[in-house]
Amino acid sequence: MAAIVSVEDREKVIQACIEAKKYSYSPYSKFAVGAAFLAEDGQLIKGANIENASYGGTICAERTGIVKAVSEGVTRFRALAVVTNVPSSISPCGMCRQVLREFCANDMPIYLVPGDYPRPLKENERPEDGFIEGGVRLTNLGELLPDSFGPEQLELPRRQ
Ligand code: THU
Repeated sequence: MAAIVSVEDREKVIQACIEAKKYSYSPYSKFAVGAAFLAEDGQLIKGANIENASYGGTICAERTGIVKAVSEGVTRFRALAVVTNVPSSISPCGMCRQVLREFCANDMPIYLVPGDYPRPLKENERPEDGFIEGGVRLTNLGELLPDSFGPEQLELPRRQ
């Protein structure tokens, strides 16, 4: 079970993802994304999307953040927040979901933050769909990447 994230820590990781977006390098898509991880030890690690003239070289904000963290020895996380300039919550791409799966628990909170955070919930943003205050959608990997493949599965044939 993921530890409960306090309202204070949630606000910290949300503000960190908004700061991270400032350094997005997205001259091609003009779609700026910021991500921030709250590590188990309380550290905040930020990432932005970094595009490339050879488009396939682009790295998403979530992967920038997790690769920064893991390459500095930080591998355990309590929460992730992601924001774009779109005034609604935008969900991580498939490749990022799989990369997150390597290090994040299925029930770790993922906050999808609208570009105009904080704001009241819109009519179609229902609490039963995970919407919480500020217009944020709270989700997790269990929801975003159900029935997933991860390190545990890779171990199975080696155990025989
Ligand atoms: N992008 C992210 O940073 N995260 C996602 O989960 C979705 C897409 C970036 C990649 C690219 O720079 C831009 O958004 C448009 O695809």
